[in-house]
Amino acid sequence: MSAPLQSVLHPAGPDAALIAHLSWVLFGGAAVIFVAVMALVVLSMRPAARPVSTRWWIAGAGVVFPVVVLTALLVWSTWRSADLTPQTSRGAMSIGVTAKMWWWEVRYHDPASGKQVVSANEIRIPAGRPVYVGLTSTDVIHSLWVPALNGKMDTIPGRINGLTLHADKPGVYRGQCAEYCGEQHARMALHVIALAPADFQRWLANEAQPAKAADNALVERGRAAFLEQRCQSCHTIRGLPGAELARLGPDLTHVGGRTHIAAGTLRNHRGTLAGWIADPQAIKPGARMPAATDIDGATLQALAAYLEQLK
Ligand code: CUA
Repeated sequence: MSAPLQSVLHPAGPDAALIAHLSWVLFGGAAVIFVAVMALVVLSMRPAARPVSTRWWIAGAGVVFPVVVLTALLVWSTWRSADLTPQTSRGAMSIGVTAKMWWWEVRYHDPASGKQVVSANEIRIPAGRPVYVGLTSTDVIHSLWVPALNGKMDTIPGRINGLTLHADKPGVYRGQCAEYCGEQHARMALHVIALAPADFQRWLANEAQPAKAADNALVERGRAAFLEQRCQSCHTIRGLPGAELARLGPDLTHVGGRTHIAAGTLRNHRGTLAGWIADPQAIKPGARMPAATDIDGATLQALAAYLEQLK
């Protein structure tokens, strides 16, 4: 996969391209006006060079010019904004995203099996079509911003706000919470992974499956440690008896298939999983996850190995 892109200057979808175009026109116009005003400042410092009256300058440059320019920009940008994709779920594929302190819960509906699929911190979408994201929050106001794909949209408790993500082609687009929401606001990132439609269907069908554990002693020891450490109080692993109810923390059924953990904070592999479980407060102070206590090194490694193979 290509390196994640988080840039308004590199739009990767139709809405982001339109926003970028508007921004460049406004920036270009502002630059021309700035240069002209600076030139006038320089000119005004030379007493000899005043070809027209003060009254003309006040009326012309102070009133007529801004009214004409701002009216033209208002009309033009309103007209162009009408081309943005309407924020409606009608006829589009829908994904639910719930922002939490400080991570993202993502819910899909798998039409093939009729199942709801719950994931975290990664929004997978099929490339080449609009995907409607229904956004809400369970605690404070957050804001989803994936600059390469669209503008920002707030997530507000008790409301559903819509945002369309439309990637022209497969790729990885980084997003970030864009509304200050507490001490780990900066580490509340996510990745949008746009896949070719067939790859997306394959991925979704796999996500809908319950977790499968590899048949070896290390993984078996890790699976037992998950239950012993009472990880199931907060985390669901579908297919693991006794661990299918919790909604406090991210659903871990297919955690090994994600590129990052801790909301975009760490690359996902056995080492970072073990480090995160051992001391999440050292990595993300204030995060709701407590450190695993009474766990020896070998058991911690087994737990990380179990989670890593949940693909
Ligand atoms: Cu969530 Cu800032």
